[in-house]
Amino acid sequence: MKQKVRWTMARDVNGDSKAGVTVWVALDVPTPEEADAWMTRLHPHHHFKVGLELFLAAGPRAVAAWTARGEHVFLDLKLHDIPHTVAGAVRQARRLGVDLLTVHAAGGPAMLAAAQDAAGPALTLAAVTVLTSLSNEVLTAMGAPPARAWVETLAAMAAEAGVGAAVTSGAEVMVLHRRWPTLALVVPGVRPAGTPVGDQARVVSPANAVAAGAAHLVVGRPVLTAGEPLAALAAIKSDAMGAMAHA
Ligand code: C5P
Repeated sequence: MKQKVRWTMARDVNGDSKAGVTVWVALDVPTPEEADAWMTRLHPHHHFKVGLELFLAAGPRAVAAWTARGEHVFLDLKLHDIPHTVAGAVRQARRLGVDLLTVHAAGGPAMLAAAQDAAGPALTLAAVTVLTSLSNEVLTAMGAPPARAWVETLAAMAAEAGVGAAVTSGAEVMVLHRRWPTLALVVPGVRPAGTPVGDQARVVSPANAVAAGAAHLVVGRPVLTAGEPLAALAAIKSDAMGAMAHA
C-alpha cells in the first residue's frame, strides 16, 4: 500500500514518501511509451505529473498501471464543471490511485466542496488559481480583478472548501503561504539559475520557491531537455533541499 505524500516540512526532498517538498517531473509527452521510457530513465525518481496530452493519449488504465507499480502520479486535468460532474470525475481519479488532482478554483465554492467530498482522505485536490498565461490586461478585459487579488480570492475559496493544495506562480507563493499556511502550495515554472525559461513568463528557482513556502515543485523542460536529465533533476532537488536546510 502506497503512503500518501506528506506535506510537513522535513529535511529532504522526495525520492521517498517522507519528503517535505515534492518535485514532480511534468511528463509533457504524447505517448505512454515515451512516459514509460522517462520513468525508467529517471529511476529512482517516482513522482510524475500527467497532464491532459498524456492522459488523453495513454488513458486511465495506463495511469492505474503506473500507480499500481509504485509511481506517484499528479493528475493535472484542471477540472471545471458543475459540482455533480466534477464530483464524478474526482471519484474516478481516486480509483486510479493518483496522489494529486487539479480542479479550477473558479468553478466556485459548491464545486470545490463537492470535489473535496468526492476526493476522500487519500487524494489531495490542488485548486488552480489564475492561469499564468492570463495577464492583468486580459483579466480586466474578462471583467476579472487583477491577478494578485483574484489569486487571493480563489485561494481563500479553496481553503474554505477544505481543499488541501493550490497551484500558484512563484510570484504569489509567499503571500499565499502566509495567509493560508495549511494550503500545500504547488509551484510550476521552476527554473534553476542559468536554464532557459522557454514560454514561462514568470519563473522561480527551486530554492526561492521552497523558501517562500512551496510544498510541491513542478518541473518539465529543465529535466526533459537537459543533456543529463538525472543530473539536472538531482541539481533541482539539491537546490530545493538547500532552502529547506535554511528554513
Ligand atoms: O516545462 P515546464 O517546466 O515549463 O513545465 C511546467 C509544467 O507545469 C507544464 O506541464 C505546465 O502545463 C504546468 N503548468 C504551468 N503553469 C501553470 C500551471 C501548470 O507551467 N500555471
